[in-house]
Amino acid sequence: MSLVLIHPAPDALWADARLAGVLRRALGERPVQILTRAEELDGLPGRTLLFALPLGEWGINLEYIRMLVRLRSEPGLLEGCTAGLIVDGAGELYTKSAAAELALALNRAGCALIGRPLVEGTGSLANFQVQAQVQGATLMGAYEAAVRDLAERLENPGFPRKERPRLLALHASSHHTSNTMALWSRVRAELEDRCDIQEIGLRNGTLSDCSGCPYTMCLHFGERGECFYGGVMSEEVYPAVRAADALVLLCPNYNDALSANLTAFINRLTALFRQTRFYDKAVFALIVSGYSGGDILARQVIAALNMNKSFYLPPRFALMETANFPGQAMALPGIVDRLEDFARNIRRTVLAE
Ligand SMILES: Cc1cc2nc3c(=O)[nH]c(=O)nc-3n(C[C@H](O)[C@H](O)[C@H](O)COP(=O)(O)O)c2cc1C
Repeated sequence: MSLVLIHPAPDALWADARLAGVLRRALGERPVQILTRAEELDGLPGRTLLFALPLGEWGINLEYIRMLVRLRSEPGLLEGCTAGLIVDGAGELYTKSAAAELALALNRAGCALIGRPLVEGTGSLANFQVQAQVQGATLMGAYEAAVRDLAERLENPGFPRKERPRLLALHASSHHTSNTMALWSRVRAELEDRCDIQEIGLRNGTLSDCSGCPYTMCLHFGERGECFYGGVMSEEVYPAVRAADALVLLCPNYNDALSANLTAFINRLTALFRQTRFYDKAVFALIVSGYSGGDILARQVIAALNMNKSFYLPPRFALMETANFPGQAMALPGIVDRLEDFARNIRRTVLAE
């Protein structure tokens, strides 16, 4: 089946000229079905999608906003689809935040995202400086090459399932009082008959944040499966990530962000990423906020682990709940059904049944 190119047409055509040109040159003769209006997003379940979003200078595309309404309000709209994204801006801002917002909306509508699903073109294309240098290409040449590469990677969008998958759950909470851990215990109980589950606690003091070594130094340590700081990250976490088929991040909301320990884990993953890609590892997240803001953390996980670090994003990768006082999460109305759905989703993604 042909690729479906979703290309919300902006009102001012000039705002789209660059992206339209890149798509024409990069996709060449490849057969694509092109959709430009929100009303056309029907009959797509199971298809492979390339979402090409022109944002103009101010980061707003009204036809895209109409599509966002459909994605958020129709949970099965993209059941079984897999997507890649291109976001093109006329200024230097908004491309990444729009991409993360779109990715979460697609994901909640039932769509998976391949690892490294995003090609981003900022107004100046300065984001292609390093790639252009490596390829000996112009900035525009590097942009087109990235779109061509994305379209090729979308040709085989499947995810390998295993007879006995390995899950790695990472947390930084106290087992006794944590709402996040209480929810995870229930999910874990649904999975351990068919999966090998390892849990690692990254509590305060066990993990230093990335020190931002020069690229060659990071590469040097990464090639030996290590990192400048060593410690629990090289000895325990890297081998566990290498062995895992899926990560489950257990994420309480701390100031509308992942906690410092989990963020340090992601930053320190850079050394391992230098020598290996994570396309065949999935990432899930269990997110608990005391008040609000779960979607902000979900977008952070997508941006960091799916877009930057190349993990596969399965459909509905995140369960987001709101609970504050100890014990509150497991008393939420309907929580057991949602936890069972979440566990079923993990099984469906990783388990060959
Ligand atoms: C340092 C810190 C910052 C927090 N910031 C937020 C916040 O910005 N928004 C929010 O909704 N809840 C916030 N909370 C509340 C937690 O997300 C909430 O208590 C949740 O249940 C934490 O999960 P836990 O019980 O697993 O620790 C914060 C809690 C702490 C300790």
